[in-house]
Amino acid sequence: MPETNQVKIEAEGVRKIYNEGLTNEVDAIADVTLKIRDGEFVALLGPSGCGKSTFLYMVGGFEQVTAGSLTLDHKPIKGPGSNRGIVFQEYVLFPWRTVFNNIAYGLHLRNESKQQIDEKVSRLVTMIGLEGFEEQYPHSLSGGMQQRVAIARAMAYDPDVLLMDEPFGALDAQTRSLMIQDLARVHRETAKTTLFVTHSVEEAILLSDRVFLFSARPSRIKKIFDIDLPYPRSVTDDAFIDIQKLVLNELSEEVGNDIDH
Ligand SMILES: Nc1ncnc2c1ncn2[C@@H]1O[C@H](COP(=O)(O)OP(=O)(O)OP(=O)(O)O)[C@@H](O)[C@H]1O
Ligand SMILES: [Mg+2]
Repeated sequence: MPETNQVKIEAEGVRKIYNEGLTNEVDAIADVTLKIRDGEFVALLGPSGCGKSTFLYMVGGFEQVTAGSLTLDHKPIKGPGSNRGIVFQEYVLFPWRTVFNNIAYGLHLRNESKQQIDEKVSRLVTMIGLEGFEEQYPHSLSGGMQQRVAIARAMAYDPDVLLMDEPFGALDAQTRSLMIQDLARVHRETAKTTLFVTHSVEEAILLSDRVFLFSARPSRIKKIFDIDLPYPRSVTDDAFIDIQKLVLNELSEEVGNDIDH
C-alpha cells in the first residue's frame, strides 16, 4: 500500500492524436483523467491499440500530450528526465555492453565516481540475482535474465517513478512468475511509484494497488479496481479469483468494442 497519499502523477483530460491533420491521423487517447499516489503500484490494462504505451511514453516525456494536462509532482511533464526509469515493451539492452556496463550506463552519463558506480551496480546485480554474470554480454543471457538487467538499468538512477511496458510479455510462464515475485518484493522494499502496462489480468492483480482499465481506442478510463488483497498474493485464493472475474468481464466487454476488430 502507498506510504503517503500525496499525488505523484496527475492526468486531467489528457488527449493524444498522432499525426494531427494528416491523412494518417490516429486518435489514440480521447480523455484520460486520473491521479496516481506517491508509492503506488498501478497497472494499466486495456485492449490492444487503446493507448497504454502512448500514455506511459507521455508520462516518460517521450511523447507530448495533444490536449489536457499531465503533471509529475504537480509540474507539467515537458520531456524525459532521470526522475523516471523506463522499461520498454521489447528488451533494449546495449548488445555491445556487458551486464555491468548496461546497468552502469546512466551513472556513467552522470559522471558518477568509479566507486559510486561499483557500489550501485553491485547492489542492483544482487537485487536481480545475477551475481557472477556482470561480465557477460546480453546475447549469452536468457530472455528473463535480460529483462532483469533492463529493470536494473531503469532503477540505477534511483528514479522516483518506474514505467514498465509489458516487461514480462515475452517470457515463459515459469520465468514470468519468478519475475512477478521479484518485482513485488522490490516494490515493497523501494516503494517506488510504478506504472505497469500489461495484457495479463493475473499479473495486474498479483502486483497492483489499483488497476486502471482503458476503454477501446480512442480511450478513456473505463473503470478503476482497488486491489485490496494482502501479500503474498496467490492466484488460487477465492478473493483473487473473484476480483479476476470482475476485471476479465469488463475487459472482454471492451475488447469486443475494439474498433479494430
Ligand atoms: N508513433 C506513432 N505514430 C502514429 N501512431 C501511433 C504511434 N504510436 C502508436 N500509434 C497508434 O496509437 C494507437 C495506440 O497505440 P499504443 O501503442 O499506445 O497502444 P497499446 O495500448 O500500447 O497497444 P498494445 O497493447 O498492442 O501494445 C494505435 O492505434 C497505434 O497504431
Ligand atoms: Mg503497447
